[in-house]
Amino acid sequence: MRAAVLHEKNTPLVVEDVDVEAPRQGEVLVRIAASGVCRSDLHAQEGESPVSKPPLVLGHEGAGIVEEVGPGVTGLAQGDPVVIALYGPCGTCDDCRAGDIPNCWSETRTHNMYGRMPDGSTRLRLRGEPIAPMVGSGSLAELSVVREAQLVKIDRDIPLDLACLAGCGVTTGIGAALNIARVAPGSSVAVIGCGGVGLNVIQGARIAGAARILAVDTQPGKLDLAADLGATDGVLVAPGESAAEAIRARLPRGVDYAFEVVGHTPLVREAFEATRIGGTAVMVGAPPPGSTITIDSRQLFADRRLLGCTGGGNIPARDIPRIMRFYQQGRLDLERLVATRIPLARVNEAFDSLRRGEAVRTVVLP
Ligand SMILES: NC(=O)c1ccc[n+]([C@@H]2O[C@H](COP(=O)([O-])OP(=O)(O)OC[C@H]3O[C@@H](n4cnc5c(N)ncnc54)[C@H](O)[C@@H]3O)[C@@H](O)[C@H]2O)c1
Ligand SMILES: [Zn+2]
Ligand SMILES: [Zn+2]
Repeated sequence: MRAAVLHEKNTPLVVEDVDVEAPRQGEVLVRIAASGVCRSDLHAQEGESPVSKPPLVLGHEGAGIVEEVGPGVTGLAQGDPVVIALYGPCGTCDDCRAGDIPNCWSETRTHNMYGRMPDGSTRLRLRGEPIAPMVGSGSLAELSVVREAQLVKIDRDIPLDLACLAGCGVTTGIGAALNIARVAPGSSVAVIGCGGVGLNVIQGARIAGAARILAVDTQPGKLDLAADLGATDGVLVAPGESAAEAIRARLPRGVDYAFEVVGHTPLVREAFEATRIGGTAVMVGAPPPGSTITIDSRQLFADRRLLGCTGGGNIPARDIPRIMRFYQQGRLDLERLVATRIPLARVNEAFDSLRRGEAVRTVVLP
């Protein structure tokens, strides 16, 4: 099968033949129909991911059709449409058993992050050598072998080239608003960075009933989209300009919730400084390894909260069906997030587009 392989950091992906083994116990072979390209794919390509290191089959925002199930798979059958989640809970560790599924930190989850099965193996071979699929998904490929726990079955009437976005960007953005910050009705929200993830923080805040939603970005086009998806105010900032000051120029007391959704660590401080006393800042952007955040401790003392957010605190079996229902009810716009659809052979164009920062999501159709 054809797959987009990252051989070395800062080099273009190579679309080439990769061998796939049959699914084993509890595993499923998925024929990928569509995959979004997220900034975390770009971070991996630029060598800024501590877990997704080359050689690697990139992609982690995929949806497809079950082609074959391995022994012991009970919840899925050939022909089922599925979204590949960001992770598959182990189901047996103390955290999972206590219900804290997003924070499962078992060996299974660790291997999953590095793109390996629970025993450390992979079902992919490149010229005879094992190669990992990014976070166990590797969706920029024609096929992927995924643990059943990492797959969520969806209704047949949902287009797979939209459903794929629930693999990461939509789930993370909606989850940051609903699961992590728990945005309250009538509240004020600022979202710094309105790309594939940030626009979904905006949609999540709208669904939660926020009264003011300030969209902050350096690109005017992103603010237009943000307005269509629920932002009440567009705040255009120049790179390096203080987002906190721009937000406080509109809401002098600060906002109830502020989200950093760029992946640029100094902006986490801006988000924090944009919150009111008692407010909540959430770092959604993936910080480069080794980076640190400096905040004014007196401001934290004033009952503020600064929260992390891996994958939007999502439980795949709960959150992906919920997102699909929001879409079916017309409360969540997925179509507006897709700028272009391209074949796998042109995958590098999606990375160029992310680097330029113009478009939201390019969806690759393997
Ligand atoms: N927490 C998680 O689990 C998780 C999941 C997915 C993605 N991410 C991370 O979230 C971040 C965003 O991902 P994405 O796919 O939405 O990226 P994206 O490139 O689609 O969006 C980033 C947006 O930030 C804007 N921007 C850049 N500099 C800015 C600045 N100084 N001020 C305001 N806006 C600015 C860009 O114009 C763009 O609209 C990345 O770091 C990604 O790795 C984290
Ligand atoms: Zn677990
Ligand atoms: Zn992602």
